[in-house]
Amino acid sequence: MQELGILDRELSELAEAVLDLARDYWSGLDQRPTYPDTNGEETERLFSRAWVEDGRGREILDDFKTIADRSRPTGPRFFGYVVGSGEPVSTLSELLAATLNQNVTSWRSAPAATTIERTVIGWLAESVGCAGFSGSLCGGGSAANLMALAMAREAKLPANEAGARPCVVYASEQAHMSIPKAVALLGIGRRNLRYVPVDDGFQMQTDALRNGIAQDKQNGLTPIAVVATAGTVATGAIDPLREIADVARAEGLWLHVDGAYGGLAAMAVPERFQGLAMADSISLDAHKWLYQPIDCGCLLHRDTSVAHEAFSSSGDYVRIFNQETAERFAFFDESMELSRRFRALKLWMSLQYHGRRAYRAAIARDLRHALLLAEAVMAHPDLELLAPVTLSAVCFRHRTTDNEAILRRVIARGRVYLSNATINGQFALRACFVNHRTTSDDVCAIVDEVTTAADRLDS
Ligand SMILES: Cc1ncc(COP(=O)(O)O)c(C=O)c1O
Repeated sequence: MQELGILDRELSELAEAVLDLARDYWSGLDQRPTYPDTNGEETERLFSRAWVEDGRGREILDDFKTIADRSRPTGPRFFGYVVGSGEPVSTLSELLAATLNQNVTSWRSAPAATTIERTVIGWLAESVGCAGFSGSLCGGGSAANLMALAMAREAKLPANEAGARPCVVYASEQAHMSIPKAVALLGIGRRNLRYVPVDDGFQMQTDALRNGIAQDKQNGLTPIAVVATAGTVATGAIDPLREIADVARAEGLWLHVDGAYGGLAAMAVPERFQGLAMADSISLDAHKWLYQPIDCGCLLHRDTSVAHEAFSSSGDYVRIFNQETAERFAFFDESMELSRRFRALKLWMSLQYHGRRAYRAAIARDLRHALLLAEAVMAHPDLELLAPVTLSAVCFRHRTTDNEAILRRVIARGRVYLSNATINGQFALRACFVNHRTTSDDVCAIVDEVTTAADRLDS
C-alpha cells in the first residue's frame, strides 16, 4: 500500500461511518443547546495538539462528537446574525464536489463544473429578476463586495495599470462592515467612503446622496460608485433601489447592490426589490437565505467586459471576450481567484432536488416568522419593537430590564440564540430568520425566553 493509500474495504467502512455521523447530527439538531457549553481553555486543551507522527486511522472519527459538542449548531432556534441552516442535500453534494476535486477556473480545467457554475449563476440571476446578468460564486458577501468595488473602480477610474487615483464611494450608514473593508483593501481609503444618512426606516436618503455627490464634485473629487443595501444586516432595510439607480445613472456612477443578506428574498417578494435589475453588480449569499452550507457567496454583474478589465491579468480580454465560446471560458479572467472549488454542485443538486417552489415557500415562511415575532413583541407590554420589519430581521428590546444582561442569560440558557444590534443608539435584541428548520413554535419561544430571563434578573 502507498503511504497515503487506503484499502477499498476500509474506505467504504469509513464512508459509512461518516454518513452515520452526519445523519445522527442532523436528527439530533433540534435537541442541541443553541450554544455549546465550552470555553477557550477547554477548546485549547482539546484541539490544540501536535500533528501525530503515525496515523490514527478510523479513530479520528471519535473526535467528531467532541468537535460537534463544541460547535455552534444552526438548529431551528438559532436566530443570531444571518446564518443559513445548511440544507442536507447541499451538504452531501459538498462531499461529491470534493470527490471530483475540480479546479473550477476554466472550461479546460473543469468542463462540466464550469458550465454548471455558469448555469446556476443564471438561475440565481433570473430568480431575483436580473436575467442576463452573469457572474461567479465566491466565499461570501465580503468577497463579492470587494470584487464589485474593484470592478466599479476599473470601470470608472481605471487603476490596474497606472495605480489608484483618489475617488469617492457612497454607502448608507447601515452598510455592512465589508464595505469599508473593501474600500480599504482597494486603496480607495476609508476616508473616501461617504456614509449617507438613513431615514426612520433605516433606508438611504436619496436627497442626501445627491447632495453629497454634488458637494464632492464641487470640491474637485471623483465619485465612482454607490453601494445600496438590499437587506441591511441590522434591520433588513432595503434602500430605495430605483431612486438610487436613477441618481447613479444621472451622475455616471457604478451602482452596486449589497444583497448578501436580503437579495435572494426577491424570489418570494419581488415587489420589495424594484430597481434591483438597474444595478451594475449585485452580491448575493446563497449560504444565508438559500440555506446552503458555508461557503456560497455570489457576485452578479451586468457587463462581463468590465469583469475582464478588473480581473484579467493577461490584458487581452477583448480577444477572449469577442471570441468567446464555451471552451474558451475562464473564471480566472472574471473573478479574484485562480484555483476555485466546485461550489456550484451543491446549488445544482439542492435547487433541483427540492425545486424552485420549495425555496420560495421557505423564504416566505421566514418572512412570516419575522412578522409573527414582531406581533408577539408588540402585543407584550414589556417589549418594544425598535425598527420596522422589512425582511426577516426583528430588532426589539425589553422596556425595563438591562437588555445586554437579558441577552447573556438567554444565550447561556441555550434554548434560543439571539444576537444584538445598535438601533438609534439603543442596545437591541435581534432575531433573524433564514432557517428552513424553524417552526412557529420555535418563534414563540423567543418572547418566552426573553421575558423569563428578564423576570429572573428582576427577582
Ligand atoms: C448586508 C451584508 N453584506 C455582506 C455581508 C458579508 O457576507 P459574508 O459573511 O458572507 O462575507 C453580510 C453578512 O452578514 C451582510 O449581512
